[in-house]
Amino acid sequence: DGVYVGEATWKAPSNIALVKYWGKRDGQIPANPSVSFTLEKCATTTTMGFAKKQGTSDTFSFDFLFESRPKDAFRPKIQTFFERILPYCPYIQQHHFTIDSANSFPHSSGIASSASGMAALALNIMSLEKALIPEITDDHFYQKASFLARLGSGSACRSVRGNLVTWGATAHIGGSSDLFGIPYPFPVHEVFQTYQDTVLLVHKGQKAVSSTVGHGLMHGHPYAESRFAQAHHNLDALQSIFASGDLTAFIALVESEALTLHAMMMASSPYFILMQPQTLEIINRIWAFRKETGIPACFTLDAGANVHLLYPEANRSSVIQFIQDELVAYCENGQYICDNVGNGAQRI
Ligand code: PMV
Repeated sequence: DGVYVGEATWKAPSNIALVKYWGKRDGQIPANPSVSFTLEKCATTTTMGFAKKQGTSDTFSFDFLFESRPKDAFRPKIQTFFERILPYCPYIQQHHFTIDSANSFPHSSGIASSASGMAALALNIMSLEKALIPEITDDHFYQKASFLARLGSGSACRSVRGNLVTWGATAHIGGSSDLFGIPYPFPVHEVFQTYQDTVLLVHKGQKAVSSTVGHGLMHGHPYAESRFAQAHHNLDALQSIFASGDLTAFIALVESEALTLHAMMMASSPYFILMQPQTLEIINRIWAFRKETGIPACFTLDAGANVHLLYPEANRSSVIQFIQDELVAYCENGQYICDNVGNGAQRI
């Protein structure tokens, strides 16, 4: 029932946090600042068609397709996203949207698609804004895309622009904000520009506790204040680690962040555990491998059982050999995904 206006397609990557965001206030405001590697291969590509409605309709509507088929399970999330962005994007009213999305990674692999998915949606909305208001600058375009993505899923604001992205206001990073992610503004050693992330798919099922619930459990959490202070401290400590390429210090900080995230879950009320036995097996194998070979491979975790194995590109063949020899045994159906640091979303 609309007049055709246009169409855009964006490919937005997933990201993996090094300093974790865990805990938020209303309006998707993070309790502490975070920083992540942008990934390259794990991504969502979304095409959005825009049509201005004619006649009596006074609100937006949309069709949602996943790989060109209707997918009702995702509709409520997208409805909520549109409702949240409406005050900032009044032009979405009286538009009908046709959304067709696809992920590069296997369905229900346990890889969170909310970051890449929400970032792709937000960028498409900004393409509509740009069509309606051609004078908006690139800086406005990307900053607002990150702002809108955050309203869909907090960590999604780190999936718009940059290979290292920081989100959350902190005194030591000029330009940092609770409202959007920014490209990490300090020098980053070349070893990190091509860092590898192999995602070991331990458990592909539904998570026992969603991240929304997990964030909520940081309210009144006995260790909340010291955890938030630690995140600030770790983000500051990363500045010299990123500049120097000190991998020993990098590993100590990144693994501690991952284990602290899961320690917060275990110390919540109610408590919960998202790691699986295979998660711990893999961690122990990584520690043994590092000790035996001296290769600076380390792990991080997001809010789930999968393990992200991080290592320099120079060590790629030895690490892949190690994965095939030892770690695939702990992966569901032997599955893992080789990814690396990428440069942010792209318009296709
Ligand atoms: O963006 P959310 O609400 O799915 O939260 C993501 C939280 C972690 O992945 C555990 C950490 C992070 O900073 O990405």
